[in-house]
Amino acid sequence: MQSAFALLQTYLTGGATPRLLVADENIDASDIASAATGTQVLSNRFELAEAGKNAGLDSCFNDFDFSDYAEAQFALIGYRLSKERPVVEHILAECARLLKPGGTLVLSGGKREGIKRYASIAGTRLAGTPLIRKHGNWYIAQIEKTGDQQLTPGGASTYREPLTITVDEKTTLYSKAGLFGATKIDPGSAMLAEYLPVFFRHFDHHSASALDLGCGYGYLTLFAARAGFSRIIATDNCAAAIEMCRRNVDTLGIDAQVVADDCARRIAQTFDAVLCNPPFHRGFKADTQLIERFVATAAARLENRGRALFIVNEFIALERAAQGYFATVEVVRREQGFKLVELAAKKNR
Ligand SMILES: C[S@@+](CC[C@H](N)C(=O)[O-])C[C@H]1O[C@@H](n2cnc3c(N)ncnc32)[C@H](O)[C@@H]1O
Repeated sequence: MQSAFALLQTYLTGGATPRLLVADENIDASDIASAATGTQVLSNRFELAEAGKNAGLDSCFNDFDFSDYAEAQFALIGYRLSKERPVVEHILAECARLLKPGGTLVLSGGKREGIKRYASIAGTRLAGTPLIRKHGNWYIAQIEKTGDQQLTPGGASTYREPLTITVDEKTTLYSKAGLFGATKIDPGSAMLAEYLPVFFRHFDHHSASALDLGCGYGYLTLFAARAGFSRIIATDNCAAAIEMCRRNVDTLGIDAQVVADDCARRIAQTFDAVLCNPPFHRGFKADTQLIERFVATAAARLENRGRALFIVNEFIALERAAQGYFATVEVVRREQGFKLVELAAKKNR
């Protein structure tokens, strides 16, 4: 079946330039390579921005911060819709500012993803009538910017404002719309955090290092530091997560390095511990391969006597995914539909 991105592809390979492709996790790195010269890429996902660079395109990784682009710069902007409404509304507002008069915004996505509603919002912003067509399960909406429309940045969008989450009476963390656990701490992450002082007993108390794999805004990093881990590296592929995690680490004075990367591919160090609440969705889609990838990465990043601690929903077959990668795999707690799994590295790998 054709993907929602495939509908955009035609617009990115011919016609007027310069073009901008706004890319989030709902498209694949391999999709990016299909965009032609004259297309610039802005992505909030590390590997997508890298794929743009590798394809020889002008490619930027940030949390949909369009401020480096000149107003009325693009002849065409292509955007496969994101899942979170504040993100989509923010992007639509910025597209209105960045398109030339007479330029075209092309949106693709599904009916349940709100394409008709978003096309109508874009129509208002661009003073153009959306042309919406259905192809199989997907829709494409084309909106021309007529006349010299309001070039106001952001409009009603509050996306750039961080949210705050109270952890306890002493600690507040910054978060952002669209991030995992953005407005409420995930009970699974809380369960892992609570267990960390027990888990820490496996290690040398003065210098045990930890990798927070898929760190989000840094909740587990905070508790790893509190449990006694030092030399912490927190990593995520999402620009908003990295931005908020850096802000939290700096604000709270936590000694941790925050690194943008795709599943720690470029992090060469090994660690005494890997802490992880792995993703099992990529945007709109469930993606079970992500668990396997995170488990394999955890095994590869552990010291010989290292241990990983994963929290997953009961229905995730983590034990099966971990087979062959670890010396032991033990479920140490089951609560509220979650299981906490401790994995010991194979020795002398
Ligand atoms: C379930 S959330 C956990 C967030 C945080 N550790 C917590 O406990 O609140 C999974 C995280 O993995 C990140 N992630 C997804 N794919 C990734 C990838 N390929 N590389 C690195 N991080 C990724 C997501 O952005 C998200 O922040």
